[in-house]
Amino acid sequence: MKKSLFALKGNIIYSEDLNKLNIVENGYLVCEDGLVAGVFKTLPEKYENIEVKDYKDSLIIPGLVDLHLHAPQYSYRGTGMDLELIDWLQTITFPQEAKYSDLDYAKKAYEIFANDLRKSPTTRAVIFGTMHKDATILLMELLEKSGVDTFVGKVNMDRNGPSNLQEESPEKSATDTREWIEETKGKFKNTKPILTPRFIPSCSDELMTLLEGIQKEYNLPLQSHLSENLGELAWVKELCPWSKFYGDAYDHFNLFGTDSCPTIMAHCVYSTDEEIALMKKQGVTVAHCSQSNTNLSSGIAPIRRYLDEGLKVGLGSDIAGGSSLSLLKAMADSIQTSKLRWRLVDDTLKPLTATEVFYLGTLGGGQFFGKVGSFKEGYEFDAVVIDDSNIQRPEQLSLKDRLESVMYLSDDRNIVHKFVKGQQLF
Ligand code: GUN
Ligand code: FE
Repeated sequence: MKKSLFALKGNIIYSEDLNKLNIVENGYLVCEDGLVAGVFKTLPEKYENIEVKDYKDSLIIPGLVDLHLHAPQYSYRGTGMDLELIDWLQTITFPQEAKYSDLDYAKKAYEIFANDLRKSPTTRAVIFGTMHKDATILLMELLEKSGVDTFVGKVNMDRNGPSNLQEESPEKSATDTREWIEETKGKFKNTKPILTPRFIPSCSDELMTLLEGIQKEYNLPLQSHLSENLGELAWVKELCPWSKFYGDAYDHFNLFGTDSCPTIMAHCVYSTDEEIALMKKQGVTVAHCSQSNTNLSSGIAPIRRYLDEGLKVGLGSDIAGGSSLSLLKAMADSIQTSKLRWRLVDDTLKPLTATEVFYLGTLGGGQFFGKVGSFKEGYEFDAVVIDDSNIQRPEQLSLKDRLESVMYLSDDRNIVHKFVKGQQLF
């Protein structure tokens, strides 16, 4: 087969690690068969004759990674934000998600979502659907068409929901989940299943036991919510009096990390020392959703502590707890809330920096997908080209300052080209 080989030319910026940003002004980013072959100041001789897409003064960064969002909630993002988590779920979110039993509605809503995700700077996303099998398969079909690489979960929820958004039994929830996995097996290239128990208050012990069996049988990764909000924490204590801490209520069923069950837990605002130690030991990835935690008055997660302790951390938009799909905005939000936490809550945990949140939104979250989120050699070629020339300034800024300003201004109109695994989406 003929090799796919080309280069992008422009101002290339990517994370080497948490504290190191690599910047190559007017450089070349070479793609060979979907992987990064290297970043070069001048194009090596062996690449002399390859196609070069010259993006002039634009910024070229790795595609952004959204570790946590709810596709069915995109339709009402930015509304209903005057409530805390549990009331918000009961009065706004659950009635909205119930609509996805209607496939016509689901198609309308998910087409809008998939289309907007395609245009965004996000190249990888880990997504909640609803409990409805057919609507979730439809969502996966639309995401596959969008070209964005995703994990998608059919949600499990068999308790504490309204009658129109609760699975009728643990067995029915498990059966639907198995059918969903079987019906989508081998169907997609870029769209993978992920087990998705909504959170402990929505999942009975019987259901969790069945999900443990499904996880083992199919070897699936898992996503859920953890220690997000004080009301939720108290409820989990009541529902699982046997649990030592919230995370223990997942770990009890072997659904909390380890190599055999790669796990993303969204939020982790109130994780205890014990919970943090177990997340570290079992390699649980934290999806930090700063905007959602502000909107739902949940709190501010101690991300600096997680980074100091070597936990895996990435960013999530958490649509529609978060109202913006933009991961650039999630980066700026994470800096801002970390500053408030430092000033108002704990002055031993220094605010996050622009370099650090850029890492979190690219390489930090990208690790859940493999070698993703950087332009280091051998990484999957996900790239976004940002033309910020519409931002007028009386003098030139450094490339680092331009990147920071793109985060704070987070205007998706500046996203002009996007590549996923070497394929150009636009
Ligand atoms: N916990 C359980 N369900 C949800 C949800 O839909 N959004 C958020 N932010 N937290 C949750
Ligand atoms: Fe969420």
